Amino acid sequence: EKGGYEHFMLKEIFEQPKSVHDTMRGRLLVDEGVIKMAGIWDHIEKFKNANRIIIIACGTSWHAGLIGEYLIEEYARIPVEVEYASEFRYRNPIITDKDVVIAISQSGETADTMAALKLAKEKGAFIYGICNVVDSSIARITDAGSYTHAGPEIGVASTKAFTAQLTILTLIAFKLGKHNGNLGNADFMSLIAELDAIPKRIEDVLASTNELVQDIAKDFVSTTNFLYLGRGYNYPAALEGALKLKEISYIHAEGYPAAEMKHGPIALIDENMPIVIIAPKKGHYDKIVSNVQEIKARKGKIIAVVNKGDTQVSAMADYVIEIPETSECFSPIVASVPLQLLAYYIAVYRGANVDQPRNLAKSVTVE
Ligand code: F6R
Repeated sequence: EKGGYEHFMLKEIFEQPKSVHDTMRGRLLVDEGVIKMAGIWDHIEKFKNANRIIIIACGTSWHAGLIGEYLIEEYARIPVEVEYASEFRYRNPIITDKDVVIAISQSGETADTMAALKLAKEKGAFIYGICNVVDSSIARITDAGSYTHAGPEIGVASTKAFTAQLTILTLIAFKLGKHNGNLGNADFMSLIAELDAIPKRIEDVLASTNELVQDIAKDFVSTTNFLYLGRGYNYPAALEGALKLKEISYIHAEGYPAAEMKHGPIALIDENMPIVIIAPKKGHYDKIVSNVQEIKARKGKIIAVVNKGDTQVSAMADYVIEIPETSECFSPIVASVPLQLLAYYIAVYRGANVDQPRNLAKSVTVE
C-alpha cells in the first residue's frame, strides 16, 4: 500500500503532481477560461459583499492560510486576516454577518478549528470549509466549501494536503479576482495556464532534486538547529519547511521572514548554523541577496532554493537546490517540495519514525 516507497510520507510527497492535478480537476477549465467552484459561485454575493475574510486553521493548514492571505489580497483585493483557531476562539473576537470565515483543515476534525467555526457561525458569519476528508465534522458544519481531493494522507506530517490547500486557495483568489474585476482577463488567462502546468513543474522538481537533497541531508544528521528564511509568499513556505523538519527529525528549526533576521535571529548565526533560504527570482530577490550576504559574513551554512540559472545567491551558497521559475504566487508550491524531501531524508538518516513521529497525532481532536 506504500506503492514501493519506504514510507507513506515519501509516497505522498511523490504523489503531489497527481494530487494537485486532482484538486484542479473539473474546476480549472483552461480552454474555456473558467474556474468552476460551486461552493464559491453559489454564495458569490457573500464573498462580494464581505468586509473581510478571516482564515482560521492550525499547524500546516495555518501556513497554507498565510499564503492564502497573500493570494486573496493580491488578486481579489479583499482584506484577509489569518488566525490560529485556538487564539481566535478564546479572545472574544469581533465577528459580524459581513465576515466570511474560511477554515482550512486536512482532517476536518481539529477540535480548535471546529470550535472557532461554531463561534463564528453563532455570530452570524458565513462559514466556508477547505477540508481533505470528505464528510468530516468541519465539512458538515460549514455553510459551503471546497474539498481538496488530495486523497487519504497517512503520514502524520502533512505534505500533499498542504499543496492541495494552496491549489484551492489559488483557485479561490483567481476566481474572486476575475469576478470582482481586480484580475483582468489577460492576466487571468495567463495565470490559469501557468497553474494548469504546475503538476508538471512539481514532477520536474521531484525528478531533479530528489537525489541531490538526499545527499545534502547526509551532512545535517547531527545538526541541532536550523533556520528557514523567505520573503513574501515564501515566508510561510519557510515556516512550513521548519515545521516539517522539527516534526519528523526532532531537530529544532525556526522559520522567519528574511527581513526579520536582523531583529534578533541574526545573533544565532555562526559556522554551525544551517540556514535554508528560499530565493526565487520573482519575489524581492535583491533584498534576499543582501540577507544572504549578511549570513555569509557570519559564516552561516547556506542551503539556497533558487531558480534554474541563478547566479548571485548560488555563488554565496554552500548548497544549491534549483526549482523552475514561476510567477511568484506559485513559488511556495514548487519550493515546498524539496523542503519536504530535506526534512524526510534528514529524519530517515536519524532513524526517526517519519510516518508516526513521537507525540503527534494525525488528527488533533483534543483542545
Ligand atoms: C503538520 C501537521 C499539523 C496539522 C494540524 C492541523 O504536518 O500535520 O500541524 O497541520 O494539526 O490539522 P488539520 O489540517 O487536520 O486541521
